[in-house]
Amino acid sequence: MPREKRVFVCNNCEYSSPKWLGVCPSCNEWHTFEEKIEVKKQKKKKNKADISRSGDDDDAVLLSSVTSDEHDRLPTGINELDRVLGGGIVKGSFLLLGGDPGIGKSTLMLQLSKMQPDWPILYVAGEESPSQIKQRAARLQMKGEHLYIYSNSNIDSVIAQARKIKPALLVIDSIQTVYSSNLTSLPGSVQQVRECSAMLQQLAKKEGITTLMIGHVTKQGDIAGPRILEHMVDTVLHFEGNQSQFHRLLRSVKNRFGPAQEVGVFEMKQDGLFEVSNPSELFLSDLDTTVSGNCITCIMEGSRPILVEVQALVTASSYSTPQRTANGFDQRRLSLLIAVLEKRGGISFVGQDVYLNIAGGLKISDPAADLAVVAALSSSVKDQPIQKRAVFVGEVGLGGEIRSVRYRDQRIREAKKMGIKTVVAPPGQLSDDAGIDLIERTYISQIDKTKT
Ligand code: TYD
Ligand code: MG
Repeated sequence: MPREKRVFVCNNCEYSSPKWLGVCPSCNEWHTFEEKIEVKKQKKKKNKADISRSGDDDDAVLLSSVTSDEHDRLPTGINELDRVLGGGIVKGSFLLLGGDPGIGKSTLMLQLSKMQPDWPILYVAGEESPSQIKQRAARLQMKGEHLYIYSNSNIDSVIAQARKIKPALLVIDSIQTVYSSNLTSLPGSVQQVRECSAMLQQLAKKEGITTLMIGHVTKQGDIAGPRILEHMVDTVLHFEGNQSQFHRLLRSVKNRFGPAQEVGVFEMKQDGLFEVSNPSELFLSDLDTTVSGNCITCIMEGSRPILVEVQALVTASSYSTPQRTANGFDQRRLSLLIAVLEKRGGISFVGQDVYLNIAGGLKISDPAADLAVVAALSSSVKDQPIQKRAVFVGEVGLGGEIRSVRYRDQRIREAKKMGIKTVVAPPGQLSDDAGIDLIERTYISQIDKTKT
C-alpha cells in the first residue's frame, strides 16, 4: 500500500520541511512554502538473489568499441557567436543563454534569424508580444520570412508546435515564462523551470531539435532557477556588459562541444548588435598616456588577448580613513598591491585616497594586469606620466617580484598589432621580437626605469 506524507517545499530552492515556514532557512526567501503530498511506495524487501537481477538489461560497453560521430555544426554567420560556440551551433544541442535584463539576449536571437533568413526558427515569446517583436525587427531591418513567433507559453503546446514546424532552432524566451499545466506552481518556480527544461531536453536529444533557452539571472549573476539547469544543457552562455556602456561580452561558461571561457565581443548600437572583431581598438579608443596614472595592459579573455587601459588616481585624503576604491578590479587585490608597493617599492600611501578604474567598464580578473596597476599607482603618486606608450604585463608577488604570465607571446603580439612598440614584462623567450622593444623586469622597484 502506498503511504501518503505531507511536506512543505520551498518553491525557490526546494528545501523541504514537515511544517510550514514563513522564511526558508536555506535560501532566506519569504512565503515560498507550498504544501505537497508525497506518495511513498512500500519498499519491497530484497534478498541477495534479487540484487543480481535488479536494474535494466543494458550492458556496459567498452569505450574502444564506441564510435563517435562528428558533430554537425551549423555556422550562424555571426562570427563572434560562432567563436564562442566553437565554430557554430551543434545540431540537436541544448543551450542556455543567461544575462541581465536589457543586455540584448532577445536582440541577439533576432539577429541570428536575420543572418540566416532561410532557417526556420520557432521563437517562443513569453516576454513580449508579436507586435513588440515586429517593432524590434523593423529596428534591425529584418523581415523574418522564416521566423515563427509563438506566444503560447504552455510547454505542451510549445513542443507540439516544434514537432509540427521542425525548426532549425527553437528559441525559448524565456524559460522562466513557460509552464507545464501538470504543476500548480507559478511559471518561473524551481519546479516549473525544471519540468519544462527536462521536456525541452528530451525534444532536443530525441528529435534532434536544436533548442536555446534564454534564462534570467539572479542579483549575483547566476542563472535563476535550479542549479540542475546548468547540468542539463550542453552549453551555457552568459551575455554580460554594463548598461551604461555599449560593449557586450558573450562568454561560454560551459561548452560540451567547444572551448569554455571563450569570449565574443559586441557593441550595442541604435540598429542592433555589431560584432567587434578587434576589441583592443574599442577599449583603447580614448587612451591618453600623457596623463599620470594611465597605463595599458593586455588581458586574456578565453584565447583572446585584449588591450585595456588601467587608470589610477592617488590624492591626499580628506577622510580619517583613506579610501581605496576599485572599479572593474578586485578591491582586495588592489589593497594587496598597495601593500606590496609600500613595503617593496618604498612608496608611501599614508593619508592618500586611491582610486582605480578599468576604462570602458570592463571587469578584469587576469593576474597579468597586476604590473599595470602597480605602474599606474606609482605614476599617479609621483604625478609623472608613463611617457613611453607601453604595455605592462606580469603578475606581482608579495615579495615584489614580477612573475611570468600565461600566453606572454600572444599578449606581446597583440601590442605589436596595435602599434605599441614597448612591452614591460617578466623575462622569457619570445618567438618573434622584431619591432618590439621588450623591457624585461623581475622586481617592481625596477619598473620606473622604463621611462625615457
Ligand atoms: P533586449 O534584447 O530586449 O534585452 P534582453 O532580451 O536581454 O532583456 O535588449 C533591449 C535593450 O537594447 C534595450 O535597452 C534597447 C536596446 N537596443 C538597442 O540599443 N538597439 C537595438 O537595435 C535594439 C533592438 C535594442
Ligand atoms: Mg528579452
